[in-house]
Amino acid sequence: MSPTIALLGHNGKVGVSVFLNLLKAHREGKIALTVLHREGSDLSKVPTDAGVETRLIDLSETGVEKTKSAVKDADVVISTVGNAGLKAQEYLVQALVGSSKLKTFIHSDFGNNWTQAEYAAAPGLAVGIGLKEHVAAKAKELGVPITNIRIGVLAPFFLGHKVLGTYIKENKFQTFRNNLTNPIRLTNFDYLGYAVAYLVSDESRIAQLPGQTYQIYDVEVTGQQVIDTLTKVHGQAPEITALAEEEFEKTLKTPLGLFAAVYAKWGSNLWGEGEKLAVGEWTPKPFEDQVKQFI
Ligand SMILES: NC(=O)c1ccc[n+]([C@@H]2O[C@H](COP(=O)([O-])OP(=O)(O)OC[C@H]3O[C@@H](n4cnc5c(N)ncnc54)[C@H](OP(=O)(O)O)[C@@H]3O)[C@@H](O)[C@H]2O)c1
Repeated sequence: MSPTIALLGHNGKVGVSVFLNLLKAHREGKIALTVLHREGSDLSKVPTDAGVETRLIDLSETGVEKTKSAVKDADVVISTVGNAGLKAQEYLVQALVGSSKLKTFIHSDFGNNWTQAEYAAAPGLAVGIGLKEHVAAKAKELGVPITNIRIGVLAPFFLGHKVLGTYIKENKFQTFRNNLTNPIRLTNFDYLGYAVAYLVSDESRIAQLPGQTYQIYDVEVTGQQVIDTLTKVHGQAPEITALAEEEFEKTLKTPLGLFAAVYAKWGSNLWGEGEKLAVGEWTPKPFEDQVKQFI
Protein backbone atom coordinates (compact mmCIF):
# COMPACT_ATOMS: atom_id res chain seq x y z
CA MET A 1 0.00 0.00 0.00
CA SER A 2 1.33 3.47 -0.81
CA PRO A 3 2.24 5.69 2.14
CA THR A 4 -0.23 8.29 3.34
CA ILE A 5 1.25 11.77 3.23
CA ALA A 6 -0.60 14.61 4.94
CA LEU A 7 0.22 18.21 4.01
CA LEU A 8 -0.66 21.35 5.95
CA GLY A 9 -0.14 24.73 4.26
CA HIS A 10 -0.93 23.83 0.65
CA ASN A 11 -1.76 27.43 -0.28
CA GLY A 12 1.54 28.93 0.86
CA LYS A 13 4.45 30.02 -1.31
CA VAL A 14 6.45 26.92 -0.38
CA GLY A 15 3.31 24.87 0.21
CA VAL A 16 1.82 25.19 -3.25
CA SER A 17 4.90 23.73 -4.89
CA VAL A 18 5.04 20.89 -2.36
CA PHE A 19 1.33 20.32 -2.92
CA LEU A 20 1.57 20.17 -6.74
CA ASN A 21 4.46 17.71 -6.57
CA LEU A 22 2.67 15.56 -3.99
CA LEU A 23 -0.45 15.65 -6.13
CA LYS A 24 1.59 14.32 -9.07
CA ALA A 25 2.96 11.49 -6.87
CA HIS A 26 -0.59 10.80 -5.69
CA ARG A 27 -1.89 10.59 -9.27
CA GLU A 28 0.98 8.23 -10.10
CA GLY A 29 -0.11 5.97 -7.24
CA LYS A 30 3.11 6.47 -5.25
CA ILE A 31 1.40 8.09 -2.26
CA ALA A 32 -2.08 8.71 -0.88
CA LEU A 33 -2.32 12.47 -0.32
CA THR A 34 -4.35 14.10 2.41
CA VAL A 35 -4.64 17.87 2.61
CA LEU A 36 -4.91 19.16 6.15
CA HIS A 37 -6.44 22.59 6.50
CA ARG A 38 -7.77 25.00 9.03
CA GLU A 39 -11.30 26.41 9.10
CA GLY A 40 -11.77 28.76 6.17
CA SER A 41 -8.77 27.60 4.10
CA ASP A 42 -9.20 27.88 0.35
CA LEU A 43 -9.52 24.34 -1.00
CA SER A 44 -10.06 25.31 -4.63
CA LYS A 45 -6.62 23.99 -5.68
CA VAL A 46 -7.50 20.49 -4.48
CA PRO A 47 -9.04 18.54 -7.37
CA THR A 48 -12.26 16.75 -6.55
CA ASP A 49 -11.70 13.90 -9.03
CA ALA A 50 -8.34 12.60 -7.80
CA GLY A 51 -9.26 10.95 -4.51
CA VAL A 52 -7.30 13.48 -2.44
CA GLU A 53 -8.80 13.68 1.02
CA THR A 54 -9.20 17.04 2.75
CA ARG A 55 -9.40 17.10 6.52
CA LEU A 56 -10.11 19.93 8.90
CA ILE A 57 -7.73 20.40 11.79
CA ASP A 58 -7.72 22.80 14.71
CA LEU A 59 -4.33 24.01 15.88
CA SER A 60 -5.42 25.25 19.28
CA GLU A 61 -5.22 23.86 22.79
CA THR A 62 -8.77 22.57 22.57
CA GLY A 63 -8.37 21.20 19.04
CA VAL A 64 -5.77 18.51 19.64
CA GLU A 65 -8.25 15.59 19.67
CA LYS A 66 -9.85 16.74 16.42
CA THR A 67 -6.43 17.07 14.79
CA LYS A 68 -5.39 13.69 16.18
CA SER A 69 -8.17 11.93 14.31
CA ALA A 70 -7.28 13.81 11.09
CA VAL A 71 -3.63 12.67 11.18
CA LYS A 72 -3.96 9.22 12.72
CA ASP A 73 -3.34 7.29 9.47
CA ALA A 74 -0.52 9.50 8.15
CA ASP A 75 2.90 7.98 7.57
CA VAL A 76 4.39 11.43 7.09
CA VAL A 77 2.96 14.80 8.07
CA ILE A 78 4.43 17.80 6.28
CA SER A 79 3.85 21.37 7.41
CA THR A 80 4.67 24.30 5.15
CA VAL A 81 2.81 26.89 7.22
CA GLY A 82 4.04 30.45 7.03
CA ASN A 83 5.45 32.42 9.91
CA ALA A 84 1.97 33.16 11.30
CA GLY A 85 1.39 29.44 11.83
CA LEU A 86 4.78 28.36 13.14
CA LYS A 87 3.94 28.41 16.83
CA ALA A 88 0.60 26.67 16.31
CA GLN A 89 2.49 23.65 15.02
CA GLU A 90 3.07 22.69 18.64
CA TYR A 91 -0.57 21.53 18.72
CA LEU A 92 0.06 19.47 15.60
CA VAL A 93 2.99 17.88 17.42
CA GLN A 94 0.70 17.13 20.37
CA ALA A 95 -1.79 15.52 17.99
CA LEU A 96 0.95 13.27 16.62
CA VAL A 97 1.95 11.91 20.01
CA GLY A 98 1.39 8.17 20.16
CA SER A 99 0.55 7.75 16.47
CA SER A 100 1.40 4.17 15.57
CA LYS A 101 1.58 4.98 11.88
CA LEU A 102 3.73 8.12 11.90
CA LYS A 103 7.27 7.78 10.58
CA THR A 104 8.12 11.47 10.72
CA PHE A 105 6.87 15.04 10.91
CA ILE A 106 8.55 17.39 8.45
CA HIS A 107 7.95 20.70 10.19
CA SER A 108 7.93 24.09 8.52
CA ASP A 109 11.62 24.88 8.71
CA PHE A 110 13.00 25.43 5.21
CA GLY A 111 15.67 27.65 6.72
CA ASN A 112 19.24 27.12 7.84
CA ASN A 113 21.42 25.58 10.52
CA TRP A 114 21.79 28.08 13.34
CA THR A 115 24.23 27.95 16.24
CA GLN A 116 23.87 29.34 19.75
CA ALA A 117 26.55 31.90 18.88
CA GLU A 118 24.49 33.11 15.91
CA TYR A 119 21.37 33.40 18.10
CA ALA A 120 23.35 35.42 20.64
CA ALA A 121 24.74 37.76 17.95
CA ALA A 122 21.36 38.42 16.28
CA PRO A 123 18.55 38.74 18.86
CA GLY A 124 15.94 38.95 16.07
CA LEU A 125 16.62 35.35 15.11
CA ALA A 126 14.92 34.13 18.26
CA VAL A 127 11.61 35.67 17.14
CA GLY A 128 10.92 33.68 13.96
CA ILE A 129 13.60 31.02 13.84
CA GLY A 130 13.24 30.49 17.58
CA LEU A 131 9.66 29.31 16.99
CA LYS A 132 10.95 26.60 14.68
CA GLU A 133 13.43 25.51 17.35
CA HIS A 134 10.58 25.54 19.85
CA VAL A 135 8.49 23.18 17.69
CA ALA A 136 11.48 20.88 17.16
CA ALA A 137 12.19 20.86 20.91
CA LYS A 138 8.53 20.12 21.69
CA ALA A 139 8.62 17.16 19.28
CA LYS A 140 11.76 15.84 20.94
CA GLU A 141 10.23 16.23 24.40
CA LEU A 142 7.06 14.39 23.36
CA GLY A 143 8.83 11.67 21.38
CA VAL A 144 7.50 12.69 17.98
CA PRO A 145 10.04 11.95 15.22
CA ILE A 146 10.85 14.93 13.05
CA THR A 147 12.85 15.80 9.95
CA ASN A 148 14.49 19.18 9.31
CA ILE A 149 14.81 20.54 5.80
CA ARG A 150 17.34 23.35 5.35
CA ILE A 151 17.39 25.25 2.08
CA GLY A 152 19.69 28.26 2.31
CA VAL A 153 17.75 31.12 0.73
CA LEU A 154 14.74 30.92 -1.56
CA ALA A 155 16.08 32.05 -4.94
CA PRO A 156 13.25 34.52 -5.62
CA PHE A 157 13.95 36.20 -2.26
CA PHE A 158 17.62 36.58 -3.06
CA LEU A 159 17.00 37.78 -6.60
CA GLY A 160 14.00 39.98 -5.95
CA HIS A 161 14.12 41.29 -2.40
CA LYS A 162 17.47 43.11 -2.37
CA VAL A 163 18.14 41.97 1.19
CA LEU A 164 21.52 40.39 0.51
CA GLY A 165 23.24 43.16 -1.44
CA THR A 166 22.34 41.97 -4.94
CA TYR A 167 20.18 44.39 -6.94
CA ILE A 168 19.31 42.65 -10.18
CA LYS A 169 17.34 45.41 -11.93
CA GLU A 170 19.63 48.19 -10.75
CA ASN A 171 22.77 46.17 -11.63
CA LYS A 172 24.43 46.58 -8.24
CA PHE A 173 26.38 44.15 -6.12
CA GLN A 174 27.71 44.38 -2.59
CA THR A 175 30.77 42.51 -1.37
CA PHE A 176 30.84 41.22 2.19
CA ARG A 177 33.75 39.30 3.68
CA ASN A 178 34.55 36.48 1.25
CA ASN A 179 31.28 36.39 -0.66
CA LEU A 180 33.09 36.86 -3.98
CA THR A 181 34.55 33.38 -3.65
CA ASN A 182 32.08 31.70 -1.26
CA PRO A 183 28.88 30.24 -2.73
CA ILE A 184 25.41 31.21 -1.58
CA ARG A 185 22.87 28.38 -1.43
CA LEU A 186 19.69 29.13 -3.34
CA THR A 187 16.53 27.08 -3.69
CA ASN A 188 13.80 27.51 -6.26
CA PHE A 189 10.22 26.77 -5.28
CA ASP A 190 9.77 24.13 -8.00
CA TYR A 191 12.87 22.24 -6.90
CA LEU A 192 11.90 22.38 -3.24
CA GLY A 193 8.48 20.92 -4.00
CA TYR A 194 10.03 18.25 -6.20
CA ALA A 195 12.62 17.35 -3.55
CA VAL A 196 10.12 17.07 -0.70
CA ALA A 197 7.82 14.89 -2.82
CA TYR A 198 10.81 12.77 -3.83
CA LEU A 199 11.73 12.15 -0.19
CA VAL A 200 8.24 10.99 0.81
CA SER A 201 7.11 9.04 -2.23
CA ASP A 202 9.02 5.85 -1.51
CA GLU A 203 8.85 3.66 1.62
CA SER A 204 12.60 3.10 1.77
CA ARG A 205 13.33 6.84 1.58
CA ILE A 206 10.67 7.54 4.21
CA ALA A 207 12.39 5.05 6.51
CA GLN A 208 15.54 7.22 6.38
CA LEU A 209 13.79 10.46 7.34
CA PRO A 210 13.26 10.35 11.14
CA GLY A 211 15.79 12.44 13.04
CA GLN A 212 17.55 13.64 9.89
CA THR A 213 18.48 17.15 8.79
CA TYR A 214 18.69 17.56 5.04
CA GLN A 215 20.39 20.34 3.11
CA ILE A 216 18.37 20.84 -0.05
CA TYR A 217 19.18 23.53 -2.62
CA ASP A 218 19.48 23.58 -6.38
CA VAL A 219 21.79 26.51 -7.04
CA GLU A 220 25.18 27.49 -5.63
CA VAL A 221 26.76 30.66 -6.95
CA THR A 222 29.71 32.70 -5.76
CA GLY A 223 29.55 36.48 -5.66
CA GLN A 224 31.91 36.56 -8.64
CA GLN A 225 29.49 34.38 -10.60
CA VAL A 226 26.66 36.76 -9.67
CA ILE A 227 28.77 39.70 -10.91
CA ASP A 228 29.63 37.85 -14.14
CA THR A 229 25.97 37.04 -14.72
CA LEU A 230 24.89 40.63 -14.07
CA THR A 231 27.60 41.83 -16.47
CA LYS A 232 26.33 39.46 -19.13
CA VAL A 233 22.62 40.21 -18.83
CA HIS A 234 23.08 44.00 -18.54
CA GLY A 235 25.92 44.27 -21.03
CA GLN A 236 27.97 46.14 -18.43
CA ALA A 237 29.59 45.40 -15.08
CA PRO A 238 27.51 46.08 -11.95
CA GLU A 239 28.28 48.92 -9.59
CA ILE A 240 30.15 47.28 -6.73
CA THR A 241 30.18 48.52 -3.15
CA ALA A 242 31.37 46.89 0.06
CA LEU A 243 29.34 46.23 3.21
CA ALA A 244 31.37 47.44 6.18
CA GLU A 245 31.60 45.29 9.32
CA GLU A 246 30.19 48.13 11.48
CA GLU A 247 27.11 48.41 9.28
CA PHE A 248 26.67 44.64 9.31
CA GLU A 249 26.94 44.54 13.13
CA LYS A 250 24.34 47.29 13.39
CA THR A 251 21.89 45.46 11.09
CA LEU A 252 22.43 42.23 13.00
CA LYS A 253 20.76 43.83 16.03
CA THR A 254 17.71 45.10 14.12
CA PRO A 255 14.58 43.23 12.92
CA LEU A 256 16.54 42.70 9.67
CA GLY A 257 19.07 40.71 11.68
CA LEU A 258 17.93 37.46 10.02
CA PHE A 259 19.10 38.72 6.64
CA ALA A 260 22.37 39.96 8.10
CA ALA A 261 22.92 36.57 9.74
CA VAL A 262 22.31 34.83 6.40
CA TYR A 263 24.69 37.32 4.80
CA ALA A 264 27.33 36.17 7.28
CA LYS A 265 26.71 32.55 6.25
CA TRP A 266 27.54 33.51 2.69
CA GLY A 267 30.44 35.83 3.52
CA SER A 268 32.09 33.45 5.98
CA ASN A 269 30.81 30.09 4.72
CA LEU A 270 28.86 29.35 7.91
CA TRP A 271 26.28 27.02 6.40
CA GLY A 272 27.11 24.42 9.02
CA GLU A 273 26.80 20.67 9.07
CA GLY A 274 25.23 18.46 6.45
CA GLU A 275 25.98 17.44 2.90
CA LYS A 276 23.84 18.62 0.02
CA LEU A 277 21.24 15.97 -0.62
CA ALA A 278 21.15 14.57 -4.14
CA VAL A 279 17.49 14.41 -5.02
CA GLY A 280 16.25 12.38 -7.96
CA GLU A 281 16.98 13.63 -11.42
CA TRP A 282 16.73 17.38 -11.58
CA THR A 283 18.17 19.80 -14.09
CA PRO A 284 18.38 23.23 -12.51
CA LYS A 285 17.37 26.19 -14.59
CA PRO A 286 20.54 28.11 -15.62
CA PHE A 287 21.26 30.91 -13.12
CA GLU A 288 21.37 33.43 -15.96
CA ASP A 289 17.77 32.58 -16.91
CA GLN A 290 16.69 32.98 -13.29
CA VAL A 291 18.37 36.39 -13.10
CA LYS A 292 16.70 37.52 -16.33
CA GLN A 293 13.29 36.94 -14.73
CA PHE A 294 14.04 39.73 -12.26
CA ILE A 295 15.26 42.34 -14.75
N1 LIG B 1 14.88 30.11 3.50
C1 LIG B 1 14.16 31.08 2.97
O1 LIG B 1 14.66 31.90 2.19
C2 LIG B 1 12.70 31.21 3.29
C3 LIG B 1 11.96 32.27 2.74
C4 LIG B 1 10.61 32.34 3.00
C5 LIG B 1 10.00 31.41 3.82
N2 LIG B 1 10.75 30.41 4.38
C6 LIG B 1 10.12 29.43 5.28
O2 LIG B 1 9.27 28.58 4.52
C7 LIG B 1 8.12 28.21 5.30
C8 LIG B 1 6.84 28.55 4.53
O3 LIG B 1 6.82 29.93 4.28
P1 LIG B 1 5.89 30.58 3.16
O4 LIG B 1 6.46 31.93 2.87
O5 LIG B 1 5.66 29.60 2.08
O6 LIG B 1 4.56 30.77 4.00
P2 LIG B 1 3.16 31.41 3.56
O7 LIG B 1 3.08 31.59 2.10
O8 LIG B 1 2.90 32.59 4.43
O9 LIG B 1 2.19 30.21 4.04
C9 LIG B 1 0.86 30.33 4.03
C10 LIG B 1 0.27 28.98 4.39
O10 LIG B 1 0.39 28.80 5.80
C11 LIG B 1 -0.90 28.50 6.32
N3 LIG B 1 -1.06 29.06 7.67
C12 LIG B 1 -0.71 30.29 8.08
N4 LIG B 1 -1.03 30.45 9.38
C13 LIG B 1 -1.59 29.29 9.80
C14 LIG B 1 -2.12 28.83 11.04
N5 LIG B 1 -2.13 29.61 12.13
N6 LIG B 1 -2.61 27.58 11.09
C15 LIG B 1 -2.59 26.79 10.01
N7 LIG B 1 -2.11 27.17 8.80
C16 LIG B 1 -1.62 28.41 8.71
C17 LIG B 1 -1.88 29.14 5.36
O11 LIG B 1 -3.10 28.48 5.50
P3 LIG B 1 -4.44 28.93 4.73
O12 LIG B 1 -4.35 28.28 3.39
O13 LIG B 1 -5.52 28.43 5.60
O14 LIG B 1 -4.40 30.42 4.65
C18 LIG B 1 -1.20 28.92 4.02
O15 LIG B 1 -1.51 27.65 3.49
C19 LIG B 1 8.26 28.96 6.63
O16 LIG B 1 8.85 28.12 7.59
C20 LIG B 1 9.21 30.09 6.28
O17 LIG B 1 9.94 30.58 7.40
C21 LIG B 1 12.07 30.28 4.12
